[in-house]
Amino acid sequence: MQRRNFLQLSGAGLLWQLAGRSEAYTGGSVPALGASTLPIPPLLTGNSFHLSLQTGQMEFLTGKMTPTYGINGNYLAPAIKVRDGDNVSFNVTNNLGEATALHWHGMHIPADMDGGPHQLIQPGATWNAAFTVRQRAGTNWFHPHTHGQTGRQVYMGLAGLLMVEDAQTDALDLPKTWGEDDIPLILQDRRFRTDGSFAYLSGMMDSIQGMRGDVFLVNGAVSPRVSLPAKEVRFRVLNGSNARVYRLAFSDGRTFRQIATDNALLEAPVELGALTLSPGERAEIVVDCTVDMGKRLVLWDTLSRASLLMLDIDKTPAQITTLPATLGNLTWLNPAAAVRSRTFSLSMGMRMGMGMMMGAGGGTQFLINGVSMDLARIDQTVPLNDIEIWEIRNTGAMGMLHSFHVHGTHFSIVERNGSAANVHAYEKGYKDTVLLGSGEVVKIILKMTDYTTGANAPYMFHCHILEHEDRGMMGQFIVT
Ligand code: C2O
Ligand code: CU
Ligand code: CU
Repeated sequence: MQRRNFLQLSGAGLLWQLAGRSEAYTGGSVPALGASTLPIPPLLTGNSFHLSLQTGQMEFLTGKMTPTYGINGNYLAPAIKVRDGDNVSFNVTNNLGEATALHWHGMHIPADMDGGPHQLIQPGATWNAAFTVRQRAGTNWFHPHTHGQTGRQVYMGLAGLLMVEDAQTDALDLPKTWGEDDIPLILQDRRFRTDGSFAYLSGMMDSIQGMRGDVFLVNGAVSPRVSLPAKEVRFRVLNGSNARVYRLAFSDGRTFRQIATDNALLEAPVELGALTLSPGERAEIVVDCTVDMGKRLVLWDTLSRASLLMLDIDKTPAQITTLPATLGNLTWLNPAAAVRSRTFSLSMGMRMGMGMMMGAGGGTQFLINGVSMDLARIDQTVPLNDIEIWEIRNTGAMGMLHSFHVHGTHFSIVERNGSAANVHAYEKGYKDTVLLGSGEVVKIILKMTDYTTGANAPYMFHCHILEHEDRGMMGQFIVT
């Protein structure tokens, strides 16, 4: 009888009941809401960029220093803006003292420039990534993709925004003044030890649910405050957390308009009262503060009930913008033109002979189609220019969420749980990451264009809950 490497676990519920929800509390020294000012990452533009991945330290908690990683600084990175059609070049120097990789999440670029786990940068080495920008304006990002170490390296602070602009965004009357009415919000949650260091994987469930914390950072500051002009304000929101799903809303219950999904502007603004973002997802929203002079708002997460950001509308705007009713046309792939479909089943398993109750989820593995990530195995071969339907199934029970991400392209969501009507208003655009609740099935449509791959540099698909990715919920595909 053939021995299986993994036991599929469908009844993980018992474990949940035994272990409870472990989100250990950081304790004192956590600054109050609004105690610090929202940091705005410096904006880099042009064609050639130098990024240094380095160690640093930050005072997140009052009077305590936290050892961190950062890019050209102590924590997070400069924000980079490039233009559709431009040839750009990045020199990425690894000054960390451990191997890393730097992935351009959301970029439609050749796989050997993608910065996946095959493009490892050894300590002291510089990796050059050069590519042509060939995509719509949107808010993409970059972060490490080191096999088995991605979660920890991102947690330490390595992440930044990579924005694309194009003729469409030039022509639209959108808020565009960086740090004034065009404001990045990189959302992260962290847990600390009493000495101030990050408590990465310190709880029993961290490897299973993914690493969540009880302290909320925006752009690397604990629940800070931002001063805003009394006008339309655009926020580029990145869920840069390892595992937490946010449902964002404003304290006065106001609605706002979403103008972009992960990779591009929507065809028209979508009015929302709350916005759900899973790890890796982005959205751009416009909040109308025109008649709010003197008001104070709070951006909060309705799932954890945490306050993330205090907003004071106290500045006279230098100029007014008026969000257009339409933003432009997107090109949609027709499901009837799909030439094949593939299935990706996301599940949890455990190694035979190792108890899941031992250690911090020690034996847990996360699987796609029953197997754990293997750098030496190509899981899928996708012909160039074929339209395909990918069906993603979250087979996990008991509240296990996954956030499915595909490299090298964008997709759109055709169905959620068997029906197009279940696709949420806030996800009807170009996407590269999609949330699957427990038991959910999502169909996406995609076409790999422009670039074939060599077997030495495949693209990745994976769960963007980074502890799931690091524990095997990832696969590789080539384009031929
Ligand atoms: Cu943002 Cu493969 O990751
Ligand atoms: Cu990616
Ligand atoms: Cu997952």
